[in-house]
Amino acid sequence: MQFDPFDPATIADPFGPYRRLRDEAPAFRTEHGFWVISRYDDVVRTLRDHERFSSSAGVGSEWRPVPMMISVDPPDHTRLRRLVQREFTPRAIAAWDERVTGIVDDALDAFVERGGGDLAAEVAYPIPIGVIADMLDVPAEHRADFKRWSDDTIDALGGGLDAETSTRVELSIIEFAQYFAEVIARRRLAPGKDLLSLLVDPTNGETLADGDLISFAILLLVAGNETTTNLIGNLVHALATHPDQWTRLQRDRTLVPAAVEEVLRFDAPIQGFFRNTVVDVELHGETIPADEKVMVLFGSANRDERKYPEPDRFIVDRNPMDHVAFGAGIHLCLGAPLARLEGVRFLERLLDRVERVELAGEVERTQNPLLRGVRHLPVTLTLR
Ligand code: HEM
Repeated sequence: MQFDPFDPATIADPFGPYRRLRDEAPAFRTEHGFWVISRYDDVVRTLRDHERFSSSAGVGSEWRPVPMMISVDPPDHTRLRRLVQREFTPRAIAAWDERVTGIVDDALDAFVERGGGDLAAEVAYPIPIGVIADMLDVPAEHRADFKRWSDDTIDALGGGLDAETSTRVELSIIEFAQYFAEVIARRRLAPGKDLLSLLVDPTNGETLADGDLISFAILLLVAGNETTTNLIGNLVHALATHPDQWTRLQRDRTLVPAAVEEVLRFDAPIQGFFRNTVVDVELHGETIPADEKVMVLFGSANRDERKYPEPDRFIVDRNPMDHVAFGAGIHLCLGAPLARLEGVRFLERLLDRVERVELAGEVERTQNPLLRGVRHLPVTLTLR
């Protein structure tokens, strides 16, 4: 048995290798020295077992300047999450609906008028970054900086940076922290209607300290941008390559939320993430020793035939609400209601305006074993 998540062939199409892992080695140690967990039931159990599988060492990123909720365990995690949770419930997120829809329209308008182009670069990329900039009320004159900070923080996620890039990324993060330290101070004095104002408003309940708020703002960029970009890109890719499923959506718009869930299952924007064993763990006859890295494969769990019949088919009315594209357990994606809202509004607007979506050239996938998306997605649109 061989499995190398960094192998370009595996990145291009990981689903065959995942199946072999699930069938032949459901607890597998790679030659890189970390373990891989691939079956749905095991993935869910691992994510729920945060006492034996810690998030505090090596969660994807080697770069952790400040404790973020995604890379800490209870009790720190419980405290940080509790203070922001109230602004990320589906109901709280629904209050942003009109603005999210406006940003989706802005991104789609010109693209639809041109009859297509590179959907990844021109539509899927600007939407999430526009939404987060809007939620944080970043003014027009700082939008370019904000984009640069966001891109650089995501580069930092990949790890293994050369010295020059590393310095650039660190500088970006310092600039970002300085900028938001000032913004937070101003919001404490004169709250507005943005997310940070809501989070610092003492009438809403206990609030976060400045340092925690700044690292939370950075986490929003890291966790919320490329993931949602990948959701939108993967969604259009799946629909362009499954025209029968597109037609079903055209005939029945009530299937839009289910189609978003199905693409999250079918082509998870985060394929895998890391945990660290706290103690020795027995799994399928193997002993994973304490203090080893474990890669938890959401992307494989979502294709497990033990869980989903015909898992490799993309079926828009499957409605797999128990997929693990957003993880599970205490670290379940905080931004899931926002990502779902963006996905749903995007797809509705596209269906409103477009009769057909077709691929118009070479699709280029992202080259990352953890984040699965499309870097270039040339499409032609036939307008309604
Ligand atoms: C389709 C888009 C998205 C996907 C697939 C996704 C996926 C995930 C996953 C799998 C985790 C769990 C990581 C773990 O268990 O270690 C996670 C955590 C998180 N996500 Fe998302 N995410 C998405 C969008 C967003 C957005 C839009 C935001 C915020 C604006 C966001 C904020 C977060 C935060 C703050 C956490 C950490 C939660 C915690 O540690 O308690 N995500 N996300």
